[in-house]
Amino acid sequence: MLAVEAAMRSYAARLGEDPELWGLAGLLHDWDWEIHPTLESHPRDGAPRLRELGCPEPVVQAILAHNEAGTGVAADSRLDFGLRACDEITGLVIAAALVRPTKDVRDVEVRSIQKRWKEKAFAAGVDRTEVERATADFSRVAFGGALALPEHIGQVLSAMQGAAAALDLDGRLARPA
Ligand SMILES: [Fe+2]
Ligand SMILES: [Fe+2]
Repeated sequence: MLAVEAAMRSYAARLGEDPELWGLAGLLHDWDWEIHPTLESHPRDGAPRLRELGCPEPVVQAILAHNEAGTGVAADSRLDFGLRACDEITGLVIAAALVRPTKDVRDVEVRSIQKRWKEKAFAAGVDRTEVERATADFSRVAFGGALALPEHIGQVLSAMQGAAAALDLDGRLARPA
């Protein structure tokens, strides 16, 4: 969620949107997963609590729309599509950092992620088709179709590199405790 927050903040800055709002959507989108660990209940059953706590409605909407299959809430705004586009791709970047001996996201290159795109065992939980679809949708809604996948990977990667320490991906996992 910290990785998605970093990615969302960077896109908000690029698009002239509110980085706090976009960052919050990234940070909170899976907050209830351990309470509601099924695609039918997450994040549907967590949304009322977010509202109770005063979470801004656009953020609640984006969180609901990140699992349209479970909530029936379709993505509508740039924020909604941005969250979808940033969600799973962060998993690929994390995997790419963890397979490096240095375990440092700052050593990851866009090229290395692209090379492993078709490798099924690499970040096996990340559905490539879904990432491509979410990227294309976000591109259409926020960039007039001009955001290509390698550029998206690059934007998310550099946002995560800027948050390397918060993500524990600054090399500390490669050093003996
Ligand atoms: Fe989720
Ligand atoms: Fe997620």
